[in-house]
Amino acid sequence: MRVATLLSVALLATFGQVLWAAPPTGQFASFPYCECDPIGAYKLNEHIISKGNGTYCFTVKVDVPANCTSYCCTQADLRKIEFNVNQKCDIPGVVLTATLNGAATAINPNVEIAPQGPTGATIVKITQLGLNLSNADGAEICLTLGTNRGGKGCTTLEDLCVPPAGAPPGVCSAALFSSNTDCCPSSVVNPPPPPPPPAPCFTCINISLNAVNSPVPFSFYPALCKQYADSVVANFTQAAAAAGAIITVPFNLTTCNDDLVSICGAFASEADSQLLAGVAEDLAAQFLDLVTGRFGTCPPYLDGHNVIVSITGDADSRTCLDAIKSLSCSRANVSFPKCICDTKPGATPYAALPFYTTQPGRLKTTTQYCFKFTSIPTVDGACENATIFSKVEFWGNEALRRNIRGFAIKPNGATNYTIISASWGAKGDETVKATPLNWSIDQATGSEICMDIDTSIALDDFCLGPFTNGCYLTIFDPTRKCCPMFAIVDRP
Ligand SMILES: *[C@@H]1O[C@H](CO)[C@@H](O)[C@H](O)[C@H]1NC(C)=O
Ligand SMILES: *[C@@H]1O[C@H](CO)[C@@H](O)[C@H](O)[C@H]1NC(C)=O
Ligand SMILES: *[C@@H]1O[C@H](CO)[C@@H](O)[C@H](O)[C@H]1NC(C)=O
Ligand SMILES: *[C@@H]1O[C@H](CO)[C@@H](O)[C@H](O)[C@H]1NC(C)=O
Ligand SMILES: *[C@@H]1O[C@H](CO)[C@@H](O)[C@H](O)[C@H]1NC(C)=O
Ligand SMILES: *[C@@H]1O[C@H](CO)[C@@H](O)[C@H](O)[C@H]1NC(C)=O
Ligand SMILES: *[C@@H]1O[C@H](CO)[C@@H](O)[C@H](O)[C@H]1NC(C)=O
Ligand SMILES: *[C@@H]1O[C@H](CO)[C@@H](O)[C@H](O)[C@H]1NC(C)=O
Ligand SMILES: *[C@@H]1O[C@H](CO)[C@@H](O)[C@H](O)[C@H]1NC(C)=O
Ligand SMILES: *[C@@H]1O[C@H](CO)[C@@H](O)[C@H](O)[C@H]1NC(C)=O
Repeated sequence: MRVATLLSVALLATFGQVLWAAPPTGQFASFPYCECDPIGAYKLNEHIISKGNGTYCFTVKVDVPANCTSYCCTQADLRKIEFNVNQKCDIPGVVLTATLNGAATAINPNVEIAPQGPTGATIVKITQLGLNLSNADGAEICLTLGTNRGGKGCTTLEDLCVPPAGAPPGVCSAALFSSNTDCCPSSVVNPPPPPPPPAPCFTCINISLNAVNSPVPFSFYPALCKQYADSVVANFTQAAAAAGAIITVPFNLTTCNDDLVSICGAFASEADSQLLAGVAEDLAAQFLDLVTGRFGTCPPYLDGHNVIVSITGDADSRTCLDAIKSLSCSRANVSFPKCICDTKPGATPYAALPFYTTQPGRLKTTTQYCFKFTSIPTVDGACENATIFSKVEFWGNEALRRNIRGFAIKPNGATNYTIISASWGAKGDETVKATPLNWSIDQATGSEICMDIDTSIALDDFCLGPFTNGCYLTIFDPTRKCCPMFAIVDRP
């Protein structure tokens, strides 16, 4: 019986190999390199748990094959476990340790030559386990692979184990021996599966603009998108680094439309993105402030706009970042103009462009600040048919009345500027006028009015109002009842 079994084991074990053809005398060509019954009561759970640092844990199962009544199935204990390992791992001084159910084994595991194996056959042996049919089931054995003092040794299962024929590195063959070594059921154990690659959290920071109550919708433009993106990317990346969140796709500007700036990238995982969950609202508020807080308050070109900043992960059923902040901008109340007239943008079909430009003045000592005008659809009201662009008045500093050297004006269609003198309103009105203009819609659309101011005077001192380097102006119709007002600032 023993011989028959042995023969079948040898045949099984050498299937596909030719070693059996010329075995070294008295030896066993295949693991477990000895004469023993491969059918028994014990096995190792096929899944290995890797605890890191070269520690691998195996779970013992008592699993008696159906109808098996042999000694190995019904009585044998479990004294030692041997693994089939590479010869190269048999390095002097290597320290292996093992635990059984958390307690160190009585003696350390050892790497040794299989005494009855062919040349080079090597095993790792964990012995004196003291397990039996009543206490073996569920026992956990952990093997820690170490090195010698020189740092040499096999510290991973890939390095250590000789996998069964056809199996990939990391798969190990183990034999579970009884005290009398008559029983040696074997198990094949698989390396722990690599952790599933974490799904990245694609995330966008969107700055969007919704003109809810503005006849002159503001549009983002490439330089502004870039400016916002540079700042957002810097702050967001810095916040991620501070939180220890790994970014796998760097955040950059991905969309720059009239009403949407998207800055997108990806976190390595949901968990990484969640490291920023506590600050996402703050970041959204910061980014909103970047757009709406330029003057400590909404810039005038965002009057009538709702600005929304969202930080949103592309979270199919997962939890990526999700924060949103918004602000509705409305016009600040100012004490200009001094007369009573309809200052609502859109009251008449004219508007000033949001930014002024600067150019050399008419004199060597002057600088021109130029304001451009366009036509827009009117909103319903008493001024809707006020189509004559009669004059423009600016909120100016009377104390500097001598520092404006006139206006250079250019209606649409003119090739040259015309110079007209600046006239001031009544004392205390703080109002300087470019008049008369008497432009039609065609002339006003694309027209330009430049204030020619002594270069020694800062625009911020000349123009009054709450915005740094901003000028208020009103466009009058001949009746003086219609005067849509605009605050013009320098381009951000
Ligand atoms: C691995 O070993 C190092 C050094 O001994 C130790 O600091 C670290 O905590 C260990 N890691 C694990 C997962 O056990
Ligand atoms: C176990 O033995 C029973 C009765 O002899 C038989 O019917 C059954 O097929 C056997 N099972 C196996 C798996 O050999
Ligand atoms: C198994 O071992 C334990 C502890 O050595 C012992 O108490 C128990 O009687 C043994 N059981 C069998 C079935 O041998
Ligand atoms: C955000 O970025 C801007 C420009 O990179 C920087 O000036 C500012 O201090 C940053 N804000 C925070 C809160 O980090
Ligand atoms: C921004 O990132 C996207 C996606 O990674 C990439 O395709 C694109 O080239 C990047 N753009 C810039 C300006 O870096
Ligand atoms: C942000 O903008 C991108 C386009 O760049 C769009 O695909 C995405 O749906 C937007 N996210 C939100 C929350 O609006
Ligand atoms: C501006 O003045 C109007 C009328 O006096 C008032 O209703 C409105 O609330 C004021 N707006 C602000 C922002 O102060
Ligand atoms: C403006 O002109 C249209 C068309 O002539 C007219 O129907 C409308 O009543 C006018 N509006 C005002 C406020 O006079
Ligand atoms: C515009 O100015 C140029 C140069 O000063 C002059 O030659 C030209 O005649 C002017 N054109 C008009 C239409 O005034
Ligand atoms: C304004 O222009 C119109 C047409 O161009 C002209 O008929 C009218 O007399 C002008 N008015 C003044 C006050 O110059």
